[in-house]
Amino acid sequence: MSVSSSLKTDSDLHDLQFFADGRMRHLLSLRSFSAQQLTDILDRADNFIDAAGNATGRSNKLAGVTVANLFFEASTRTRISFELAARRVGAEVVNLDLQTSSRNKGETVMDTVHTLQAMDVGIFVVRDSETGTQTTIARNVNAGVSVLNAGESIVSHPTQGLLDLLTIRRHKGTFDQLTVAIVGDVAHSRVARSAAEGLSTLGVRELRLVSPPSLVPQHEFVPSAKIMTDVDQGIAGADVVMALRIQKERFENEDGIPDETAYFREYGITSDRLKNAAPGAIVMHPGPLNRGVEISSTVADGPSSVITDQVANGVAIRMAILEAVVS
Ligand code: CP
Repeated sequence: MSVSSSLKTDSDLHDLQFFADGRMRHLLSLRSFSAQQLTDILDRADNFIDAAGNATGRSNKLAGVTVANLFFEASTRTRISFELAARRVGAEVVNLDLQTSSRNKGETVMDTVHTLQAMDVGIFVVRDSETGTQTTIARNVNAGVSVLNAGESIVSHPTQGLLDLLTIRRHKGTFDQLTVAIVGDVAHSRVARSAAEGLSTLGVRELRLVSPPSLVPQHEFVPSAKIMTDVDQGIAGADVVMALRIQKERFENEDGIPDETAYFREYGITSDRLKNAAPGAIVMHPGPLNRGVEISSTVADGPSSVITDQVANGVAIRMAILEAVVS
């Protein structure tokens, strides 16, 4: 599987994502975002969150705009939260699933997009297992139409990255004193890539990518990240521990998929392992969870877990992004 984007440089990416005056047009990757641009999105999202931590805010900024969710890969959290977010900022929403779409009859993604554009869809939210689908769409849509990346192969999941940043900021305040350990199947993780890009830009003190040797990323990651294979060393002193699912669907060879029992014993996030984290450490997971594989139920449901906060913050982040592309 290739991870090379069709956008070779951060400058190309920036020019596609942002208008010349700095307003956002598309959201494809966090790679070209500045710290200020990330902070602006987090601040906008924070405004939708109430004192209890729920995304209860509402706006009417997308009145008259139609959002189409094109999910060519499975999703629970991202799809539902984009739909709720779009409704909560006043948009109309339509959903297209792979199982029911004419892509099954041979229609190209661009023909699907052109068809929906003719129905006045203004924002496309796209998840696909192939690298570059969202970029191709962004390059070919009409002026005034936006594309939001809802998960792209192993390359990018920018709204997940943003909700992870928001969750960390809401629990820890600032980034520059934090050690963050991302633990698990780093090699196949678009979540880890987007989180790492955002954390690096916001100046986290230390970013550790912790995985078994067979799941160390083979392709480009943020250069400042520390690659580690010893999970206990990786968690030691960490303020934030982010567990990742083993993404069986992305292995090129099934023989490479770790045995789940052995994986949990050697790399699972357990209460015992967490004792070595920093006092007050938080535990994150993007979902879906595989309990007893990458994380124990005691940790997932325990006092350090902020997993449900991540889900709530995801709605607020998607509201903020939807507003940003129509501002
Ligand atoms: N975190 C995440 O992307 O979850 P879904 O696959 O359920 O959308």
